[in-house]
Amino acid sequence: MSKIWVKKPMSAYEADIKKSQLKRVLGKWSLTAIGIGAIIGGGIFVLTGTGAYYNAGPALALSFVIAGIACVFAALCYAEFASILPVEGSAYAYAYGTVGEIFAWIIGWGLILEYAMGSMTVAVSWSGYFSKLLKMFGLHLPTWLTTDPQTYWAAGNEGFSMNLPAFLIVLFVISILLRGTKGAAKANNFIVLLKVSAIIFVIIAGAFFINTENWVPFIPEATTITENGVSHSAYGVAGVVAGASAIFFAYVGFDAVSTQAGEAINPKKDVPFAIIASLIICTLLYILVSLVLTGMMHYTDFNPLGKYPDAIKAPVAYAFDIAGQAWAGYIITIAATVGLISVLMVMIMGQSRIFLGMSKDGLIPSTFAKVNPETGVPTKNLIILGIVISIVASLTPINDLAHMTSFGTLFAFTMVCVAVWVLRVKEPNLQRNFKVPALPVIACLGITINVYLIINLSKEAQMYSLAWLAIGFVIYFLYSKKHSKLQNGGYGETFKAEQEPLEKPDLDL
Ligand code: ALA
Repeated sequence: MSKIWVKKPMSAYEADIKKSQLKRVLGKWSLTAIGIGAIIGGGIFVLTGTGAYYNAGPALALSFVIAGIACVFAALCYAEFASILPVEGSAYAYAYGTVGEIFAWIIGWGLILEYAMGSMTVAVSWSGYFSKLLKMFGLHLPTWLTTDPQTYWAAGNEGFSMNLPAFLIVLFVISILLRGTKGAAKANNFIVLLKVSAIIFVIIAGAFFINTENWVPFIPEATTITENGVSHSAYGVAGVVAGASAIFFAYVGFDAVSTQAGEAINPKKDVPFAIIASLIICTLLYILVSLVLTGMMHYTDFNPLGKYPDAIKAPVAYAFDIAGQAWAGYIITIAATVGLISVLMVMIMGQSRIFLGMSKDGLIPSTFAKVNPETGVPTKNLIILGIVISIVASLTPINDLAHMTSFGTLFAFTMVCVAVWVLRVKEPNLQRNFKVPALPVIACLGITINVYLIINLSKEAQMYSLAWLAIGFVIYFLYSKKHSKLQNGGYGETFKAEQEPLEKPDLDL
């Protein structure tokens, strides 16, 4: 049983890095753009109305600050890890070297929620924005081509249906990723430039329509909102914190930078820089957008049963509509449609690199670790992911499960805070190009906030995610443990030599 806690020795990571066939093509700013590319997506354009009306009121900006702080704690811990272990695999790889195999496995399995399920959700959102964009040009796709069968039949329709745009966009993204990381990074840089410009546009243009009275009181008194017979608490300080959980999805993605460490030119310095820089840039933009939005519209105007029933679905575009600036809504729709492509690109790329790491360690089949020497990318891995993600996104009502993405992310963040602390205690002398200041305080705060945000997710999301993790344990015992390279001496003498000291009890912090 104790073998399930076996840890991957540092020398095995070094051997992996030497053998890696991935091409080191990503510089500091490309990595930062990858972070921003993954972070800014539909979340900021969609969730702000929900957060303002149901949770925080004008103090939504504070919810963004809280969620941003939760991410910064985790980001600092990711940065320290990336400065030690510049390998693909992100939180999974970090946990394997510190806490042990079963723990690493379950984190890797949980990361599928963040990256693969996140990609499916993003593909479906993209389809929604794309349909809106077509409508702007007078084109209309039939419902049976933009809806998953379950939703289609539930609405009383019969016959075949699928979400074709969601299906096609995944295949399009895969075709870019298959050409190599350098080309994908270039496309990402361009998209990031476009979407950051759109966000800055929203902030500047929206500032002219702010009515400061909408910000008073900034934190509305706590109350209960009852809708269709269901009541829930809103506003007050608790509402501001719940708001942070509600909008957390908007931050999902910054850790994707750490999945690209195997392709960074100077990973030990540039990955920590990019993780923190992309997070700070996006947090500032998000705070400003939420201040502008709640200044343009009174938070109660997002009530779906009120005078603007649709405002909550597309709050930012709607705020401009109400201000008589419908054209701004068009710019936002174009920016979101293009912007979501880079979220999808980085998420699928991240998932493929996590699978690559897990496959190299033998925990999933070796097909996922085969890198094409010409392009430097894991071709079969990407193709399998593309097929699965495109089919699931086009045929299932995936939006219902979107909250599981936040669960998977928060779970990984928590584990990274734990693991970086364990490694600092166990291996204090490892060379670290970046060290988290006051680590015990930062790690404790990170763990507390992230667990708190998990507790605040919907009960369904918690239940489904725990079921997902339970399935992961079953697969571990049926397949991964038996095929693990580490369990089977696959890392050779290096492993045997280092296994002893690393086998001692771990969590004596
Ligand atoms: N953070 C990304 C978004 O908001 C996933 O779409």
